[in-house]
Amino acid sequence: MEENTEKAGRVFLYELINFIEDSLVDSHNSYKAIPQFADTPELDTVLEQDPAVIQSNMGFMLPKDDSLEKISSDIRSCRACRLYAGRKNTVPGFGSIKPVVMVLGEAPGAEEDASGLPFVGAAGKLLDKMLSAIGLSRENNCFIGNIVKCRPPHNRDPAPDEQAACMPFLERQIALLDPKAFLTIGRIPGQALLNTKDSLGRLRGKVYDFRGKPLVASYHPSALLRDESYKRPAWEDLKLLKSMLDKLGK
Ligand code: URA
Repeated sequence: MEENTEKAGRVFLYELINFIEDSLVDSHNSYKAIPQFADTPELDTVLEQDPAVIQSNMGFMLPKDDSLEKISSDIRSCRACRLYAGRKNTVPGFGSIKPVVMVLGEAPGAEEDASGLPFVGAAGKLLDKMLSAIGLSRENNCFIGNIVKCRPPHNRDPAPDEQAACMPFLERQIALLDPKAFLTIGRIPGQALLNTKDSLGRLRGKVYDFRGKPLVASYHPSALLRDESYKRPAWEDLKLLKSMLDKLGK
């Protein structure tokens, strides 16, 4: 009861500050993250007790009356960055609507652009195998998505402004899906969610606290297809994620 009142107080204060800021600054077009103010004690306890967990919380947002269908439809009509011009399809993501893990890559490739589905090429097949090794699948308990929902030309890295333009969609997805944990695959999603420029070699092998949820950053399956030496550390990362899920009883 006391906790609820405290949480409501924090939300009220946050909205009041935003209201004042909006009145002072013309922020009509600017994206604003609303923190989740999460109060999931059992997660907090696990994360607080685990010395391997690194604190790294960011904002959170949830428009009123949002839905996954609305997000997908908004993505389909989005022209917020230059990537809309070259797309065949948008790729909002796919998977469980109550995911244990949200898996995030960087951006759709050619096959994803053609089908509108994430990770359907060779890297996607390997990803499915990796996930299934720790009891996860996109059919049952994962949601698979990307930082950017449209294919960058020639599969180049999505530019920072393209990532920023797409981030509100990811924020809305995270808010609705409320996954218990995150797995970022590849440098770009790890850096984007953890708000860092650290190399993936430095980011991987640890558990981060991302808004009160564990986040593990690992290699992209396409890197494993190119270079077998990434397989062992990637497997270590998956085991780390699994150990966090076990601790949470998921
Ligand atoms: N690589 C990604 O990062 N995302 C996809 O959806 C496919 C390949």
